[in-house]
Amino acid sequence: MKSTIVSGGKRIKRGGAGGSQIAMENRKIAVVGAGDMGHGIAELFAVSGFQVTLMDKFPQAIEKAKARVSASLAKMVERGKLTREQADSAFARMSFTGDMGAAMSGAGLVVEAVPESLELKKSVFKEIDSLAPRDAILASNTSNIKITDLAAATSRPERVVGMHFFNPPMVMKLVEVIPGEQTHPEVAREVVEVCGALGRTPVRVQKDSPGFIVNRINAADTLFFCLLLDRQVATPPQIDSFAKSQGLPMGPYELLDFVGVDIGADSLAYFSKALSPEYGKGKTFASMVKEGRLGKKTGRGFYDWSTGRADIPKVDPTDKVSIMDIFALEINESVKLIEEGVASPEDIEKGVVLGMNRPFGPITVAKDLSNAEVKSKLEELASKFDCAVFAPARAIAEGKLRDAVDGRLAKAEDAPAKQAPKDQTAASGEEVVKLEKLAGGVARVTISRPKLNLISAQVLDRLDSIVAELTADREVRAVVVTGAGPVFCAGADLSQFFGTPAAFMDFARKGARTLRKLSEMPKITIAVMKGYALGGGLELALSCDVRVAAEDVEVGFPELSRGLVPAWSGSQRLPRLLGVSQASFLILTSQRIKGKRAHEIGIVNQLAQGDPDEFAVKLAGELASNQAPVAAMLAKSLINKGSEASMDEGLEMEAMAAGILFATEDLKEGISAFLGKRKPEFKGR
Ligand SMILES: NC(=O)c1ccc[n+]([C@@H]2O[C@H](COP(=O)([O-])OP(=O)(O)OC[C@H]3O[C@@H](n4cnc5c(N)ncnc54)[C@H](O)[C@@H]3O)[C@@H](O)[C@H]2O)c1
Repeated sequence: MKSTIVSGGKRIKRGGAGGSQIAMENRKIAVVGAGDMGHGIAELFAVSGFQVTLMDKFPQAIEKAKARVSASLAKMVERGKLTREQADSAFARMSFTGDMGAAMSGAGLVVEAVPESLELKKSVFKEIDSLAPRDAILASNTSNIKITDLAAATSRPERVVGMHFFNPPMVMKLVEVIPGEQTHPEVAREVVEVCGALGRTPVRVQKDSPGFIVNRINAADTLFFCLLLDRQVATPPQIDSFAKSQGLPMGPYELLDFVGVDIGADSLAYFSKALSPEYGKGKTFASMVKEGRLGKKTGRGFYDWSTGRADIPKVDPTDKVSIMDIFALEINESVKLIEEGVASPEDIEKGVVLGMNRPFGPITVAKDLSNAEVKSKLEELASKFDCAVFAPARAIAEGKLRDAVDGRLAKAEDAPAKQAPKDQTAASGEEVVKLEKLAGGVARVTISRPKLNLISAQVLDRLDSIVAELTADREVRAVVVTGAGPVFCAGADLSQFFGTPAAFMDFARKGARTLRKLSEMPKITIAVMKGYALGGGLELALSCDVRVAAEDVEVGFPELSRGLVPAWSGSQRLPRLLGVSQASFLILTSQRIKGKRAHEIGIVNQLAQGDPDEFAVKLAGELASNQAPVAAMLAKSLINKGSEASMDEGLEMEAMAAGILFATEDLKEGISAFLGKRKPEFKGR
């Protein structure tokens, strides 16, 4: 089943079986911040067929952006890259505004490109979050800032992602796609697909980390070039001359002048806070910023730019710097990225080649060098500049450079982590599933795990013991099952599925067993479907008696698209609930549906009015006081067992249940309250 994001007349394929249903059908793109990057990003979207609104707080920035886009489109026509009609229709797909509300209206994807300040970006994200449609993806073009920190300013961290374009976006092919700690994998996948539709090469960063791939590697270089000046090892023209003698089109200082010395200084300041104080050791760049020597934009930096070009004195290349210094530093950062699980060697290579415009990257270079060469160069640099950033990464110190760049290091080090379920060491059972006994015979069970409340083996164990405890508790009559935060549960924790087939089968059996116990618990259970109820999460909901849902919850079984089947009773419960036809469609296509549709076809019993958790607790309170507990227990049993029995057997079970109830005090109370037109007070006996 394929679906499409429709973008201004151009249809873009997205999603194979199980493709995400993130609602971007006919949805426009909003770009916030119309500066160097924002105007180029917006233009790229428009040229690729999307409707775009470019927003900036400052009217003069909007005017400038309009002029820049027009000039760029005209140039593309001149160069034969677009026809006049194509350029005109791209421009017609763009709108410009100073009003954030207008920009957000109807947006399916928002790309933030305001200046690189954590505080500013957080406040902009907060504003965007309050105005953008609930299902919109919020992306940041930040160069360095951890996406998790920006996501924390919103109420939808699972829909926040990094989308790091390179300058100029119309030319540079690379886009780093960075999931924050809570980003839903489907959101990152969707953004990867959008990059494809823009004709860009996305590199998916595996773990949120300052500077991601390219700028992390860049930061070590930047620190090195700053320390060279601090220690007066050589002058900018001598070092730039050396760089050009090595075949680079621009020297590092000329380049820094071009992009802004403040960018280099800010990046070192950010890394000194976010990664290591050692990045704070470089001084020259920060003092140039204080003096207003920012480079081209202020007319003076390392060089004079008053004519619009850098006036670089002709000098001989220095012999105090060698290309091996740069190679060693970049290889070192690459190995750290591999060790930290931020990126694979292949993605690092691709990122550096495309993002830094290099013919080859540090991984290729590392394969031609010996561990000893790289290690001794790094030790020399670390000691010369008294800087721990330059000290050899662990793998290099241990002689495992080749393992690291060949991808063997990551595998060897991953293995123990994958065998031990992460949350068993990180959090106690009580923390991963919380049990609260609320007033009025209601209990609440809350799955609380980072990353969308995924169900691990530990969660199953804890659920198992909670079911036993609640079964024995006569005070509890109705149980709300929910997830912490905005998401119910996005499925099983697949990071634990690395064992033998037998272990995998055990995990499937364990899940099905636990959910069966939940479904047979003699209490009325209510699932609160919000955010995502996918895979194992949907199976959890199907194991409850009543399902209430937010209208926009995403519901589905993505299993087939991941090479799995619903293995915690979903393949059995869904056909029994909906009939074979509807169930087959949902399972075999992995299509996701929204809560509203799930309600229409009968998965959801009630759409929540207002907050779904509050709605469910209120409903549970009503059921706990209005429904006779023993009757509820028997009714559940009749429904569960009846679906597996013949009609005759079912009718016989019904008669026996009626016989049992005849002897209960609650039956007498129920009838007398009905006749006396009062509310019954059931005792559960
Ligand atoms: N310039 C680059 O080479 C480059 C490359 C990749 C990523 N980035 C990142 O992209 C982002 C933007 O960088 P840039 O170079 O385009 O900056 P810029 O200064 O050229 O543009 C930023 C724009 O944001 C606008 N702005 C400021 N506050 C705003 C607000 N509250 N609401 C709306 N608009 C606001 C400004 O008016 C300005 O037009 C930064 O995070 C930067 O790190 C830059």
